[in-house]
Amino acid sequence: MEPLNQLLLHPDHRVGADLTRWQAHGGGSALSAAAADPAAVRELVRLADLRGLGGSGFPVWKKWDVVAAEPARPDKYLVVNGNEDEPGTFKDRLLLEETPHQVIEGAVIAALAVGANRVVFYVNPDLARSLTALKLAIEQWRAAGLTEIAARALGRPLELELLPGSGHYIGGEETAALEWIEGRFPFPRGKPPYPAQSGVHGCPTLVNNVETLAHVPHLVLYGVDWFRGRGIGRGTGTKLYSLSGDVLHPGVYELPMGTPLRELIYAHGGGLLSGKPLKAVFTGGPSNTLLTPADLDVALDFDSLRECGGSLGTGAMIVISEGTGVVKRVAEYVRFFAHSSCGQCPPCKTGTATLSRLLDRIDTGRGTPADLATLENLCAMLPNSGRCHLLNGVVQLLDSSFRHFHHEYRNALR
Ligand SMILES: Cc1cc2nc3c(=O)[nH]c(=O)nc-3n(C[C@H](O)[C@H](O)[C@H](O)COP(=O)(O)O)c2cc1C
Ligand code: SF4
Repeated sequence: MEPLNQLLLHPDHRVGADLTRWQAHGGGSALSAAAADPAAVRELVRLADLRGLGGSGFPVWKKWDVVAAEPARPDKYLVVNGNEDEPGTFKDRLLLEETPHQVIEGAVIAALAVGANRVVFYVNPDLARSLTALKLAIEQWRAAGLTEIAARALGRPLELELLPGSGHYIGGEETAALEWIEGRFPFPRGKPPYPAQSGVHGCPTLVNNVETLAHVPHLVLYGVDWFRGRGIGRGTGTKLYSLSGDVLHPGVYELPMGTPLRELIYAHGGGLLSGKPLKAVFTGGPSNTLLTPADLDVALDFDSLRECGGSLGTGAMIVISEGTGVVKRVAEYVRFFAHSSCGQCPPCKTGTATLSRLLDRIDTGRGTPADLATLENLCAMLPNSGRCHLLNGVVQLLDSSFRHFHHEYRNALR
């Protein structure tokens, strides 16, 4: 079979929950190959340098190896994280809607590779089309006996479950997902223990993002060299970039990991609306950093962005043009995060609320120099004082806006 340049969004794969069409284009053959030697898939994932695409960029093989080494107690879980609720990120829903079989195949192969017998597809409850497609596709897997192939390789029954999440942004944090799966409000847990050691009901649990898992069938079918060759520079494979904001053609673009920001915005996104000059890009979703026109040639991969003080995060790129107020935009995002805080860590609960209040004052021309100083002092005090990364993300956003646009904060003071 001819290897494809687009892995995830190739038209042949965008068949929705149509198992027959999906199989006609080679769907399912990666599972048959992986079932013969599931452990070998872990090595493939390591050599391919597949990263976690839910935001962290963590090397996938490391988590897979830990879960594989843990004995089932009595079960082992794989949670497919499709909570996707960050502003500006809209890639996982596309995969779930348009290529649910690809996601299921990747998840089932991952389950075999780590010895998981329970797969939970954990999906944002507001994504009705994703839920419908996935539900149908899971039924088709059962009816066609595909889960049986996996169960034989696993040596025990393989359960596939579809679970709508709680509808909270914080529910996407991996330990919050575990809580919801166990039937409680999705409050993030303290770590350690990490889910890989003690996750759902104390069982070893692998949590991976939808996009991360969707890559696995192609990696199995076409091999490490082909996968690495799809990336540019230090990037391997492809990446789904969610492009939005003041661009002519917003959308999800599957491009080589490591594609320059300039190419994404101008060659694929058609440039800025009304030909306006670029002012900044919220990279990786708003809980990350701001890049400016000086960064247009940065390669959009995890390592290159980290080196330039940014973060790839989920691959969301929210573009803003000259004329857009940065303080207003940051205030809107921080308000979202303040509402999203689960409130169990006092520094996060009161910290995000205070940051949001101060930003609103400054944005509406009521802020004083003392308010700005408090904002900056809080940003110095708050990092690492919450259980999960939400609080650090908010501070990262603010710090990066201070670095590039401090004058806008000063100019907005009364
Ligand atoms: C506040 C918060 C929200 C998150 N939301 C999501 C989400 O919606 N989907 C997701 O895959 N990861 C989300 N994550 C990251 C997960 O905790 C976890 O790192 C990820 O699911 C692991 O999968 P990966 O290694 O394939 O990226 C979130 C993290 C935080 C701190
Ligand atoms: S840091 Fe914030 S969102 Fe995260 S667990 Fe603590 S209170 Fe909840």
